[in-house]
Formats: sequence, C-alpha cells, structure tokens
Amino acid sequence: MNVLERLRQSFAAATPEGGDPAAFASAVRPSTDAKFGDYQANGCMALAKAQKKNPREVASEVAERVDLLPLAGKPDVAGPGFLNVRLEDPWIVDQLRDLLNDATLGVAPAKQPKTVVVDFSSPNVAKPMHVGHIRSTVIGDSLSRILAALGHKVIKDNHLGDWGAQFGMILWGWKNHRDEANYATDAVGELARLYRLTNAKITAKEPGVEDAARAETAKLHADDPENVALWHQFMPECLSALTAIYDRLGVTFDVQLGESFYNPMLAEVVQDLESKGLSEQSEGATVVFIDREKAPFIVRKKDGAYNYATTDLATIQYREETWQPDQVLYVVDSRQGDHFKQLFAVAKRWGYERADLQHVAFGTILGADRKPLKTRAGDNVGLESLLDEGIAEALKVVKENSPDLESEEHVRVAEVVGLGAIKYADLSQNRLSDYVFDWSKMLAMNGNTGAYLQYAYARSQSIFRKGGLTPEGIREQRPTIFITSPAERALGLRLLRLSETLELAASELKPNILTDYLFDLANAFSTFFEECPVLKAESTERRDSRLALVDLTGRTLKFGLGLLGIDVIERM
Ligand code: ARG
Repeated sequence: MNVLERLRQSFAAATPEGGDPAAFASAVRPSTDAKFGDYQANGCMALAKAQKKNPREVASEVAERVDLLPLAGKPDVAGPGFLNVRLEDPWIVDQLRDLLNDATLGVAPAKQPKTVVVDFSSPNVAKPMHVGHIRSTVIGDSLSRILAALGHKVIKDNHLGDWGAQFGMILWGWKNHRDEANYATDAVGELARLYRLTNAKITAKEPGVEDAARAETAKLHADDPENVALWHQFMPECLSALTAIYDRLGVTFDVQLGESFYNPMLAEVVQDLESKGLSEQSEGATVVFIDREKAPFIVRKKDGAYNYATTDLATIQYREETWQPDQVLYVVDSRQGDHFKQLFAVAKRWGYERADLQHVAFGTILGADRKPLKTRAGDNVGLESLLDEGIAEALKVVKENSPDLESEEHVRVAEVVGLGAIKYADLSQNRLSDYVFDWSKMLAMNGNTGAYLQYAYARSQSIFRKGGLTPEGIREQRPTIFITSPAERALGLRLLRLSETLELAASELKPNILTDYLFDLANAFSTFFEECPVLKAESTERRDSRLALVDLTGRTLKFGLGLLGIDVIERM
C-alpha cells in the first residue's frame, strides 16, 4: 500500500472550506525528523494566509475533522500550524505481517497502466562508447525497471545514431586511410581510428576533408551502392561491440531502431509539414519557426539533406502509429535541451499531442579538475576500460574488507561491487547535476554507495546462515511482529515506504529518490542491528519477529537494487 497516498486522500477529504484538495493533499509529506511524527501535513499555513485566518486554528479544525483511522489517530498541531501524524504501532505491525508474505513487498500495480517508450543509451555507433554514455544507459535502464515494476507497459528503445555525419567521416577515412590488416584483427578499433583521424583533419581545417566527408554521408543517404555496402559491412561489427557492453551492464532493449530505420520516412515527413503549411523556406533550408525571435527548427538542410531533427519527427510519428504511447521519455544529455524543446513544439503543431513527451535530461560527469572527464591524453574515457577499472578498484576494497572469502569469490564479488559502484554513483545523483567521478567515494563501504547497500544485504543473509535458519521458514511461520524499541519501529516504518518511493521516483523520473530511500533503509537497518540482538534475542518470539524484519529488509534491498540494475551477493 502507498501509505503517503492513503494519508493524502484522507487529508484531501478534510480540506478546509475554500481550499484546493489536491494542493492541500500534496502538502502531506514524510517528516524529515522523527520528532515531528512520521508524516506531516503542511498545507494549513498557506491556506490560512490566503483566507486571513489563524493558521493554528485552521490546523486544529482539520485535526478534528480528518479521519486517518486505522493508520493513525488525531494528528498533533505543532508550531505555526503543522499537523504531525504518527502512525499507530498496531497498524504498522499488521502491515508488516502482511508484507512478510507479499511477493511484491506492498507495491501495487498502477490502476491506470501507461504505455511508456523509453528512448535511452542511443549512442552514435561507429565510435566506441565512452563515459558519457553511461548516464543515459543506466538512468534509462533504471527508469524502465521502475516503471515496469509499477505495472506500466515499457518499450525500451535504443535509438542508435547509425546514420549521421559520423558515418560519412568513417567512409571518407576508409576510402583514404584504411589499414586493412588492422581492420581484420580489430574492426571496431580500426573504425574508431578512422573516425578520430577524419575528425582531427576536420578540426584542423585540412582543405576539402569536411566537404568530402559530408559528400560521403550524402551519398550514403542517396543509396549509393558502394557506401550502402560499406555501411552493411561495418554495422554488424559496431553492433557486436555495443552488445558486449550491454551484456556486461545487464542492459537489454525491446527494440533497437536506429536513425537509419527512419530514413525512408523522412521525405514524407517534410512534405507533410509543407502541405500543412507548418514549414517554410529560409536561406535555402526548410524550417519550422516556433518563435520568430529564435533560430528555427531545420528539417531539411540547404543541400537537401535531412537531419537529426527530421529523424526525430519521423520517430515520433512511427511510435505513435506503432504503440500509441502515453509517454515517451528521452533520456539524453541536458545539452540537447533546446533540440527537444523545439522538437516537442513542432510535434504538437504537427498534430502529435496525445503522448506526453519528456526530455529526461542529465548533467555531465566531471574529472577531479571539475572539467568533463577525460583520459590523461585528453581523450574521452572509454566505457569498456572504465568498467574494467571499476572492477579492479573494487577488488582491492573487497580483499581488504572480506578477508574470509576464497580468492575466486573475491573476483566474483568485485565484479558485482565494481559495476554496482559505477551505476549507483550515477543513479544516486540528482540527474540534472554534474558530478565528479571519484573511485574512492564510489567504493566506500560506509556512506551512500552501492557497496554499502550490497553489504547491508549480505549482512541480512548472513544472520540467517549463522542461525541455521531460512527466510522461508520464518515467512511460513507468520510470526507476531513487535516494534517496541525505536530502532525496530524506525526500520518497520521504512519497510512500509517502498510503494510510495517507487511512485514518486516514477512520477519525477528520478532514480535518486529510490537510492535515497535504500540508503535510509540501510541506515535504519544498521541502527537496528546495533541495538537489537537478533539471534540472541530474549525469547524465540522476539527472535522471530526480528528475523522477519531482517528478511523484509533483505528483500527490499535486493528488489530496490534490482530496479537500479544492481546485483547483490549473498556473502561479502
Ligand atoms: N545519438 C544521440 C547522441 O548520441 C542521442 C539520441 C537520443 N535520442 C533521440 N531520439 N534523439 O547524441
């Protein structure tokens, strides 16, 4: 059950006269400090101000009127007009007991399931994936998992950049500078080398190269047999390199419709915009003006070529016709913000206004110098080598922290901890901010890290092993749950909050809402573990009650980490 939602409904029904129930309900939040109760309703002050009333009086009236039973009794009026809600212990205990045998941990499927297309990862192929691609990949993957867990129909689409200008650069490089022997042993490496070489020549303004590369792209788009054949030769190599990375990351897609897929539709898109009078000619290009003061949206360049924008319009049309999505999430770097603003505005005018199109933007990964992360040589950091480095760093930490494990165990654990650290460090940021990449912080055993949560999970499992007991046994027994100490109560309360956390993460499209919750849960577990003896509890009844809390904590951590795409280990 979504506890927060349930409380909000009750408060909405008790909204003071003249107030807006939705606004009043949305001012109900989990308390930041246990001394203000478990939840707070903070809507009375604003309402009283608007109606020139005494906020404490308004709050007292609501306290009398609101019916929170059986979750809670009458809320307390505090400070200038806050209402503090304290959940009833017997109710918490009942809920926990139900949760113990609930396979979904209290997460109910959405009443109105949505169809959501998640456009994520979407690298430009033909150059190796670099650190910049990790964000879209892990954020998109995690949001997809969260939405699916809530019962939504999710279509994960890797909108590969397999048709753009970088292919022209590779084609030009191939025709002028290829190293066949290198291609035979390392096709992707050779293509990457050619890309870099051509790019460097263009940057250095070597005469003719830029135009020549552009001409190669144009020939490809115009079905030139040689270029099309090369494209078909290169693509499988590029895709297999990408697949290797996705396999390592445990990321899958439902469809992988790259830009090339939309090529045959582009001419019609522009014709349609023209015939509807939405586009016009400007300096030889076909454009749509959204705001006359600003640069227009170019849908056909003056040389006749269609571009990224045209492709994105065709994609919107195709998705609408194929899946009728309610929502489309574009998990893309915030630097593309203007493109998406224009795209969405044009789509709307074009008649595609049913689906909620959202740019799920994210910031940049920075190095210690607070500039975008680069290698010492100034290149982009390759994703493959980053993953290797993460696992190597994790191995050091694991060896130090888990001296009892066998050495092959160390390697396996390091793999899970290293990948988890990289993903968690990314997902635990507010996605809009930039963050500094720092191995020692990412792999700290204490603090808001993947390793800390994985460790908390392993600890929950080791308690059962030590006691020679199984979680299944405890579940079957349906023990009475006691929350007599503050640590037990705090832990139990958090276990009830998974559902509201996931709904919030899904509505704000922010995985860090989930990481914050899991961190908070692991902290509550750690305090519980220090203060409440489990296997040495004063009675079997108490022991089993605590084991039930341990089991629920372990399951919640595992499930939550799973929604972040992070694995757990039974023994660390
Ligand atoms: N390939 C693009 C890039 O690497 C990202 C594509 C994002 N998706 C989209 N539908 N535009 O910048």
